[in-house]
Amino acid sequence: MIVTIDGPAASGKGTLARRLGEVLGVPVLDTGLLYRSVADLMLRAGRPLDDAKAALEAARAVNLADLDRERLSGAGLGEAASRVAVMPQVRAALLKLQQDFARRPGGAVLDGRDTGTVIAPEANIKIFVTASPEVRAVRRLRELAGRGEAITYEQVLSDIRRRDERDAERAAAPLKPAPDAVLLDTTELDIEAAFREVLKIVRRA
Ligand code: C5P
Repeated sequence: MIVTIDGPAASGKGTLARRLGEVLGVPVLDTGLLYRSVADLMLRAGRPLDDAKAALEAARAVNLADLDRERLSGAGLGEAASRVAVMPQVRAALLKLQQDFARRPGGAVLDGRDTGTVIAPEANIKIFVTASPEVRAVRRLRELAGRGEAITYEQVLSDIRRRDERDAERAAAPLKPAPDAVLLDTTELDIEAAFREVLKIVRRA
């Protein structure tokens, strides 16, 4: 069984995907980490983020086994990732590894922006998680503060709005729900309530 959970930055999709993976006993791929990893490789090599050739090389070098969530989860890399994610050749280079993951025999949960629309349109269950930008900013701020990052609510909110716009407006695999996705608005829900809704969606399917 393949489950995809897409949505904008800090909507809660990552936490929901990890918890669902535990309950179902299947592996989970946070596809955002791949784009973060491309940006990270480029920045560490001193390349500008709009260097298409370097971006393609970095995308080809991404390896699922090496993804370090802790290091890749900073705010700066989220913004940088969304800049490299607009490049169709980067997305194409990362496609196969995501599709191979999705099609593992035992099933998989994937979360990101295009996992239900492009990576695994054949998924059995597709969920699109949203929440207001203000609520997402509060959640992301809490998470970043926990990592010791000094950043204000206003900075986080403007980062989220900028990323939402870039992710939704790009031509290649824009952020949008698949036509057959179930929408889950978590603005008024804490993570426990949101996860109960996810379980209901999965049981119904
Ligand atoms: O989900 P996360 O915040 O880690 O994603 C970082 C960036 O990677 C997003 O803003 C988006 O531009 C890009 N991304 C994407 N497609 C995915 C996952 C992430 O374009 N499936």
